[in-house]
Amino acid sequence: VSPGESSGVPDAAIPDAALPGRELRHLLGWFVRIRWLFVAALAFAILVGAHVFRVEFPVGKTIAVCVAVFSYNALLLLYHLLRRHRAIPVLTSGRGEAGLQIGLDLLALTALIHFVGGAESPLVCLYLIHAIAAGMLLPKREAWVVGAVTFGLFLSVVVLEYRLVLPQYHLAGMANVTPRQQRSYETVLVMAFLVTLFSAMSITSAIMGGLRFRERQLMLTQEALVRQSEVLQQAYASLSEKQMQLVQTEKQASLGRLVAGIAHEINNPIQFIHGNMAVLSEAFSDVLPLLDERSAARPQLRIARLDYPFFRKQVPVLLKDMADGAERIGSIVRDLKTFARRDEGRLDEDVDLAETVRASLRLLHNQLKRFRVEEDLDPHLPPLRGNLSQLQQVVVNTLQNAYQALADDGQGRITIRTRVVQGGSRVRLSIEDNGCGIPPDLKERIFDPFFTTKQSSGGTGLGLAITEGIIEQHQGQIQVESQLGKGTTFHFILPVKGGRTA
Ligand SMILES: Nc1ncnc2c1ncn2[C@@H]1O[C@H](COP(=O)(O)OP(=O)(O)OP(=O)(O)O)[C@@H](O)[C@H]1O
Ligand SMILES: [Mg+2]
Repeated sequence: VSPGESSGVPDAAIPDAALPGRELRHLLGWFVRIRWLFVAALAFAILVGAHVFRVEFPVGKTIAVCVAVFSYNALLLLYHLLRRHRAIPVLTSGRGEAGLQIGLDLLALTALIHFVGGAESPLVCLYLIHAIAAGMLLPKREAWVVGAVTFGLFLSVVVLEYRLVLPQYHLAGMANVTPRQQRSYETVLVMAFLVTLFSAMSITSAIMGGLRFRERQLMLTQEALVRQSEVLQQAYASLSEKQMQLVQTEKQASLGRLVAGIAHEINNPIQFIHGNMAVLSEAFSDVLPLLDERSAARPQLRIARLDYPFFRKQVPVLLKDMADGAERIGSIVRDLKTFARRDEGRLDEDVDLAETVRASLRLLHNQLKRFRVEEDLDPHLPPLRGNLSQLQQVVVNTLQNAYQALADDGQGRITIRTRVVQGGSRVRLSIEDNGCGIPPDLKERIFDPFFTTKQSSGGTGLGLAITEGIIEQHQGQIQVESQLGKGTTFHFILPVKGGRTA
């Protein structure tokens, strides 16, 4: 991979990974700053060695090297500044510049070592710092190449000095130094070693700090990933649940169609049972005088294994019961048909709200008979314009919620009230119960599709969502009043036929 080129593989996946560009540029800037310190310390050490300890070496040449380092560092700084302000184009990639800095430093250091004693030079230990710097800036393989070049350069200098190809600058003046000067020199050596040691330590700790920072970042990323996967799992679980509920809803819709079909089928036989009951009643009253005559002639007369007087009294009652039963079945079937009708959603029917309420009460007769149901219906209510079947669904859903909220303690009461409001332009239908009430924190959610507190008894949580949709379609409003433990009232405010809609 050439410098700056992306292989598309994350750094961590490459064993000989290069530093990411931004981090490398940051480090290069840091090296420029630290080089000022080094070059100043070196110039200082050279001057102290030459003038205080009177070590003899070519001071001019060593200072010239320091000036060279100073100059190229100044150029590097200028390049960094200009590039940061985007005043010049990028001349080298980060890795190119790293190679340049390391190469220049290596040459300067080798020249210095050559001038200050060659193999005897105390400056040899600076190669260590240089090697660490190369290791920080370059990928492993290139850092090893730098190490090999360093060794090669040093060896060449030593060999060339030995072969006298290069002049040899012994640290002259040391041979006949006084013991005091010897001690001072040793002190300087120890100091130089200390500086090297601490530099190595500070560089290493900088590397380790970077590593630890990345490790922490990695850990945070990992934690965030775990959290996200938990959220995803929850979403998946709730999605599965919703899917099951949808299947359930679809089943209910099919059930609705089935009910509509059956209601239609039952309707015809019930019609003629009802019709025939009238004929039978009439026939019975016609036959009765003949039977009376017969019974007078034969007091022991029994019909259908019953004594005649008992038979005469009971049969009209039986016939009336049967006629009433047929009538009731007929009305239930009619209400069921209206309720389960496949609906085209037309909103142009005249709806008698009182009749809709009564039909809903008939439908739910069986479930409501355990409770007290009070009707307070305005006899002069104007008709609404809308969809009869949908409005009946609203009443049925709300009545169902009301009786499901009631306790079985004989105190349960439901009140249905209709009123004309807003100067006759609207009517209000209120369905009140004295049941368990809705906890305030759930009140906002009851209209959400699939929100239910009746999972255990098979609630789908669609009742109020459908109700809200229907009322919106009719340009009406819903208001809910509820007190926990006291009861709930749903108010539906709907425009009357020909009234204002807004
Ligand atoms: N009259 C009421 N009293 C107390 N809580 C109510 C009342 N009406 C609605 N709720 C609350 O609102 C929730 C949502 O009602 P909704 O009719 O949408 O669904 P459901 O009754 O749970 O199920 P279903 O789809 O069978 O109607 C109910 O589960 C219940 O907690
Ligand atoms: Mg409900």
